Amino acid sequence: MVSTAVKLLQDGKVEALGEALVELAARHNGYGVKLGHYETVGRCLCYTISKLLEGEDKKEISDIIEAWVQVYCFMMLQMIPVVAKFYRNKIERDKALATKA
Ligand code: HEM
Repeated sequence: MVSTAVKLLQDGKVEALGEALVELAARHNGYGVKLGHYETVGRCLCYTISKLLEGEDKKEISDIIEAWVQVYCFMMLQMIPVVAKFYRNKIERDKALATKA
C-alpha cells in the first residue's frame, strides 16, 4: 500500500489515493486497529528504515526518512478522520445501549 501511495503521488493522482486510503482506514477499523497504533507503526517504519540504511551517509538517511515521514503523514491525514469517526460512533452506540439497559 505504501508503494502504491508513492506511485499515485508521483503520478499526481492524489484524489484516487485519498479515496483508497479512506477505504483502507475503514477496513483497518474492522481489523480492530486503534488510533494509537498508527503512531506506533509510523515509529516502527522510521526505525526500520534507519536500521536498513545503517552505515550510509547521515544526510542521505535523514532525507529518506523525512520523505517517508511526509508520505506517512499524508496517509494519516486521510485515515485518522475515518478512525476517529468510527470510534466516536461506537462510543455513542455503547452509551445508547448502556442507557437502555
Ligand atoms: C498508513 C498506515 C497503514 C497502511 C498503509 C496499511 C496497509 C495495509 C494493507 C494494504 C493491508 C492489506 C489488507 C487491506 O488492504 O485491507 C493491511 C492489513 C492489515 N494491517 Fe495495515 N496498514 C497501515 C496501518 C496499520 C496499523 C497502524 C495497524 C495496527 C497495528 C495495522 C494492522 C493491520 C492488520 C491487522 C491487517 C490485516 C492483516 C491480515 O489479516 O492479513 N495496519 N494493512
